[in-house]
This record gives sequence, C-alpha cells and structure tokens, in this order.
Amino acid sequence: MPLSQKIPTLRRMKNWKRYTITAALPYANGPKHIGHLAGAYLPADIYVRYLRAQKRDVVFVCGSDEHGTAITIQAIQENTTPRAIIDKYHVLVKDSFEKLGISFDIYHRTSEPIHHETSQEFFLDFYNKGLFKEVTSEQYFDEEKKVFLADRYIIGTCPNCGHDKAYGDQCEKCGKALSPSELINPRSTLSGNKPVLRETKHWYLPLNEYEPWLKRWLIRDHAKDWRQNVYGQSKSWIDAGLQPRAMTRDGDWGVKVPLPDAEGKVLYVWFDAPIGYISATKQWAKENNKSWELYWKDSDTRLIHFVGKDNIVFHCIIFPVMLHMHGDYIVPDNVPANEFLNLEGDKMSTSRKWSVEMHEYIEEFPNKADELRYVLCSIAPETKDSEFTWKDYQTRVNSELVAIFGNLVNRVMVLTDKYFDNQVPQAGECSDLKTFISAQRDKISDALEHFHFREALGEMLNVARHGNQMLSEKEPWKLIKTDKEATAVVLYDCLQIIANLGILCEPFLPFSSKKIFAMLNLDREHFSWQDAGKQNLLKPGHHLSKASLLYQKVEDEIIQKQIDKLQATKVEATEKEQKANVEQKADSSKTPETDLVAKAEITYDDFTKLDLRVGTILTAEKVEKADKLLKLSVDLGFETRTIVSGIAEHFKPEELIGLQVSVVSNLAPRKIRGIESKGMILLAEDNSGKLHFVSPKDLTAAGSIIR
Ligand code: 2FM
Ligand code: ZN
Repeated sequence: MPLSQKIPTLRRMKNWKRYTITAALPYANGPKHIGHLAGAYLPADIYVRYLRAQKRDVVFVCGSDEHGTAITIQAIQENTTPRAIIDKYHVLVKDSFEKLGISFDIYHRTSEPIHHETSQEFFLDFYNKGLFKEVTSEQYFDEEKKVFLADRYIIGTCPNCGHDKAYGDQCEKCGKALSPSELINPRSTLSGNKPVLRETKHWYLPLNEYEPWLKRWLIRDHAKDWRQNVYGQSKSWIDAGLQPRAMTRDGDWGVKVPLPDAEGKVLYVWFDAPIGYISATKQWAKENNKSWELYWKDSDTRLIHFVGKDNIVFHCIIFPVMLHMHGDYIVPDNVPANEFLNLEGDKMSTSRKWSVEMHEYIEEFPNKADELRYVLCSIAPETKDSEFTWKDYQTRVNSELVAIFGNLVNRVMVLTDKYFDNQVPQAGECSDLKTFISAQRDKISDALEHFHFREALGEMLNVARHGNQMLSEKEPWKLIKTDKEATAVVLYDCLQIIANLGILCEPFLPFSSKKIFAMLNLDREHFSWQDAGKQNLLKPGHHLSKASLLYQKVEDEIIQKQIDKLQATKVEATEKEQKANVEQKADSSKTPETDLVAKAEITYDDFTKLDLRVGTILTAEKVEKADKLLKLSVDLGFETRTIVSGIAEHFKPEELIGLQVSVVSNLAPRKIRGIESKGMILLAEDNSGKLHFVSPKDLTAAGSIIR
C-alpha cells in the first residue's frame, strides 16, 4: 500500500498519554512452552518495545498466577504443597522469559500480600454495593481429602457409552457433555471414594445484568478494531445470553473471601488473577515512584491485554465487567488474542510431552533467543492456528536471518574494515534511501499499531533485503578496483541501513539490535524510533568496532535431534496408552460388565483396516542412547522391515532372533531416533507388567495374514 494511504490511519488514532500492557499471568504449576510464548508474551513484548522506542509512557506487567483448583489438586496428587510447586515454577518461568528477552517491567506473584489486599478490596466493593448474588447449591465433596470436587475431578461410568472413566464434565470416549450427577457410580479422582453431596454458599457475579453495557462497549464499539476471532468469540457468548458466575470456591488455597461467614472459602482464580495485573502495577509503581492509578484509572491510558485464545472470555467479558462494576477503572481498548500454535502436526501439550518448553530451548540453543523470536513472529497464529516445525525453523533461520539479515551486516562490516580501515567512509546523504527507510518505518509502525506482527516483521526484513540488493547491484568488491569514491558511497549507504536496522529490528530481535549497536560503536540509548529514516546515523570518520557474526547456520543434525526427541515421546505415549488399556482390561476383568466397554466398539470395517501379519525376527540390536528401544529387522514374507520397538528393558536382543511375532504391517512409518520404523509388533502385558509376544502356536510362513 502506498505510504500516502497509510499516514492518515496513523493520524486517526487517539493520542494516548500512556499504555498499560498486560500479558496473561501463566499458572505457576509447570514450565511454559513456545506456544504460550507465541500466543501472548512475544507479541506483547514486541509491542511494548516498539512503544518504548518511541519514548512513550508504558508499563508492561505479568507474573505468576499461583492459585486455582488445578494447583491444589496437583499438590494432592504429587503429595506436596501448592507453595512448593509455585515456588519452583515461578522462578523457572520468570527466568525463561528473561532469557528470551521478554522485557516485563515487573514479573509479580498472586501470592503476594498486595495482591490479596487488592483482590479483597474488589470483592468488598461489589459486596458492599450489593452487586453479588448469593446462591446455595449442592456440590460433590470428597470426605477423605476434605475438598469440594470440581467437575473434572469426578469420574464415573458414562450413561451414554458405558466408558467407565468419563469425567464429570465430559466423556472423552463418546464426547458427550455431562454433569457430575449424570455419572453412574461417581468416584473422586483424588481418593477413589464415592463423593457425597454437600450444601455450599457462593457469591455470583450477575453477568447477565451487564449484557446491555457489553452490547454497547464491545459489540457496537469494537466491531471494527478488534480481531475477528476475538470479536466473534466474545459476541457469540453475549448473543447466547450470559449467566451469573460464581466468584468464590470452597478451599483454603487462594485469596480468602473477606467476610466473617466465609470460613474455608477463597476467591475464584479467574476473579483474582486479572486483578493481578493491577496489583503488579501497584508494586511496580511503589518501586519506581509512580502513580499506579494513572495506569488504571485515567481515560487517556490505553489498556491492552495480550492473551491466548483460551483466555478470551475472561479478558473480553468477565474482567471488563468487573472493571466497569467497580466504576473507577478503564476497560481494555483491545485484546489482540492469538490462536494456537501447533507443533509438528499435533496440538502442543506439556503433559503429553509434545512441546518445546521455553527452558529446554534455552538450554539446547544457547544464545539463540532472537532466532526463536524471529521464527515465532513469522508464523504467529494471528488469524488462525499455525504450525511450528523444526524444519521450518531451520529454513527460516538459514535462509532469512542468516542469508539476508546476517549476511548484509557481515559483508558490509568486513568490506568497510578492508577498504576503509573500519571507519565510516566519506559520502553524502542519499534522499531516495532516506525516503525508503522512512516509508518502511511507517509501514512497520502502522502494522504494529494494528497488532499485525507478522507483517511488521516482513517489512523490517525488507530493509535488509534492500541493502543486499544494493550490494549485489553495485558490487563494491569489484568497484573498489576502479572507483574508491563510488565504493565509499555504497558502503556508507549500507552502513546507514544497518544502523537503521538496529533501531527497526529492536522490537523483534532485541539481542541482535544490541549486537549491531555494539559493532557500530554507537550508544543505542541515543536513538528513538523516529530516528529511523535518518540517513546520517553514522558520521563519516566514525570508528566501528570489531565485527562478529549475528547468526549461525542451523545444521541438519541439530534439527534431526529435536525431531527424534519428539518422536520418542510419541512412542512412549503410545506404549503408555497400550499399557493403560491393558491395565484397564486387567482391572475390569474382575467386573465383566465393564470389560465390554474397555474400548469403544468398532465396526467390522474398522477391523479390516488392519493388515496383521506373521513376521519372523531376523536381527535385533539396541538403539544407541535409547534405553528402551530395540531395532529389529522382521521378515514379512513379501519384504523385510525395520521396526523399532520399546521392549529393550524386557528382552535381550539375542533371545529374539528367529522368533515369530504378530505385526501390524500397514501402520504409517514413523521416524524414531532417526530410524524409520515401518510397522508395530503386538505384545500382551500381564498384571505384573511383564510383556509376552503374541506368536503363532506352530511355525507359520512369514507374511501369513492374521484374521
Ligand atoms: O490460562 C492461564 O494460564 C491463566 N493463568 C491466565 C490468567 S490471565 C490473567 F487473568 F491473569
Ligand atoms: Zn461416553
């Protein structure tokens, strides 16, 4: 789009005095993965760095969300305390963010007294104004563990399909949405006992009463400027009609309900967590001699919440209603929530180990934070789910960061050193270049103002592309032989491009920006965003520092190692699942009626999809650095297959040679530790965990069909 069409858009925007930027407070019950990073923290950081580069007044808050049923239950299951869990993960996650350049002004904790006070103050404000609805209802209670059970922590037999491990909110086998009272034979997942129904009183936020306000503020006023996915999801909640929602829970882990008759009750985690943004700001203001109220109560402050899509309803409906109910507070001007980032074709999940955890990346890819930031920003799931693959990571780093950005910086630095004694050569300003860079700066600004991070990053890289193009066209390494003055002009222009890139890349690639300024021997603090476009950031005669490579090529082995690591977790997961199925069968053999529903029914057609064959094991060897894996070659009559099997802890390789086994021969091939495995060997696992091959009773020709 031509520049002239862009400027009015920028001008139309309100002239905000200051910015309060929040990024979802992550639960401190585990490490966080790169999907979380791409979803909320990286875009928030890019936006904040861009604002700071313009010297705008901004506070960027985040911290650990340390309450909630999930953490309480995890502590019971791991036989530890919520405090022990959160203390461990608060530090791990905070440290990971720091190392990835996420530049919070404060990384707070919801267990801090200032947070408890602030949350209680909100609760009392609503209570004293008579805004809550008090409701008494019956809920399931575990008498042994002495806790009320959230729906997810009750299991029982599904009334629809008979699955005996259906959850109180949904049966995962048939998908039916359930309530705990529908379960046949309900049991607590914590003690295994039958829970009892107990009466309990809670305070409800009457969201339904705020529908007219939500319709004006959100549906009418934000139809155009919010992302479609965010607006659409919020609107559909409102259109469907809102229900009062309980803002308290039974339990002792969390912010205590500040009422005399509320012993044993705490605030609902989604009531106190967003207030965590306010308490974090209060703490930051205290430490920095600022007024927190200006950042939350002045209508000239722009409040933006960065979150993943699973948090939309809380940030677009519940928290804004709370802020509005309180009366003194501003409400968010935008909630640029991202969709999900998948990993190698599957949903990212820490519990299933199908993830790239931030702290693991930091350990395994030292000093490569910008590489990850670059890739995650280029594939950011801004409008729909997107996908991270290690091959794509390698391609983007090698052919964009290394080949375009790094290459420009390196070539120009080396040539300047060689021909001009590492000093900025004498030349005059080039007005075309100045116009080009200013236009790029405005394109990046415009994209960032509208939260189009991918687009902004692309425009930043176009500046480096432009520099490379100048080098290829002018070929200073040839030009120097005939025309030193012309060579000086080319290198002068390219050096100015690099200095400009130092400013423009900072929001996205802060570590690279720092390196660029160090190489150019310039103080970054002296430059603001508006300086980009100036053609004389470097004065002729200025001494440059020593050049070093900005980025290194990512080699195939590094990538293969990551792919293998993920595949190995798939094998483990499949084995665990198989084991769980066997265990489930073993358990239910005591109660024959549940044995029938150990697995969902399949049709005869489903069964015929399996190509089961007799195979003869020809060779067997251990897989290097994998305690559980054996690499087998198996004769299937029509061909010999390599199959990797997780049985190394159960059998010695030599005792398997010549053994006849049952093989699923049409299973899609999978790479396991770099070995392509084609098929799966069937095993039975008895109650003691011992494995037995499923073998024909008599010697049978390899390749015989099992049916
Ligand atoms: O989804 C989560 O990880 C929540 N802990 C996010 C809370 S955001 C805010 F409300 F604090
Ligand atoms: Zn079911």
